[in-house]
Amino acid sequence: MSYARIEIAPSILAADFAKLGAEIRAVEQAGADVIHVDVMDGQFVPNISIGIPVVESLRKATRLPLDVHLMIIQPERYIEDFVRAGANRVLVHQEATAHLDRAVSMIRELGAEAGAVINPATPVATLTDILYKLDTVLVMSVNPGFGGQKFLPVAIEKIRQLNEMRARYNGAFRIQVDGGVEAENTGELAQAGANTFVAGTSIFHTPDPAAATRQLRKLATEAISQRV
Ligand code: DX5
Ligand code: ZN
Repeated sequence: MSYARIEIAPSILAADFAKLGAEIRAVEQAGADVIHVDVMDGQFVPNISIGIPVVESLRKATRLPLDVHLMIIQPERYIEDFVRAGANRVLVHQEATAHLDRAVSMIRELGAEAGAVINPATPVATLTDILYKLDTVLVMSVNPGFGGQKFLPVAIEKIRQLNEMRARYNGAFRIQVDGGVEAENTGELAQAGANTFVAGTSIFHTPDPAAATRQLRKLATEAISQRV
């Protein structure tokens, strides 16, 4: 099944923005599958990060798919701009729009992969009626807004629930996890059913981001091979 594939998605939020090109090349050469880009508006989350021009520059700097995580209210206002800038996958928060179905449809019509994101306090059941349209479900394992926070174990049970749901409905979505992902929890997350591992601090705040990328992949792959 295609969703069994592991993806390691370094989050550039933890990279050195003054040498983004070099940081990305290092993880790309180490086998990163996706580059995760966190867009924050200072409203939906209490922080401001980067926007469309940075996605345009990243598009020229790497051949890897760009995963754009929109932590902005009413994301539908900017979906087209981000896809035109080079986003391959756009992730919108369930909590940030009254019209999740419309936002997801917009992403798909523009030819990108569509993902829905749930905060730690948002139940998986809020996505039941849209799962059939999703390429990815992103389970936040921290309250979004900042890198370097402690992993919230509530995410593990949600990943298990989603894993059961996709088996039952023969769904084809990927399960992504974001926030506090590190060597200590990657195996358990993979066993619960996660496919895409977003990691900022545990990759870029280490002496060797390439080695950290390879290690996360190894841990996830080993855990999946032990899954029955
Ligand atoms: C948090 C962002 C994350 C963040 C993860 O709001 O969505 O992608 O970069 O950072 P770490 O891996 O440091 O928790
Ligand atoms: Zn993110």
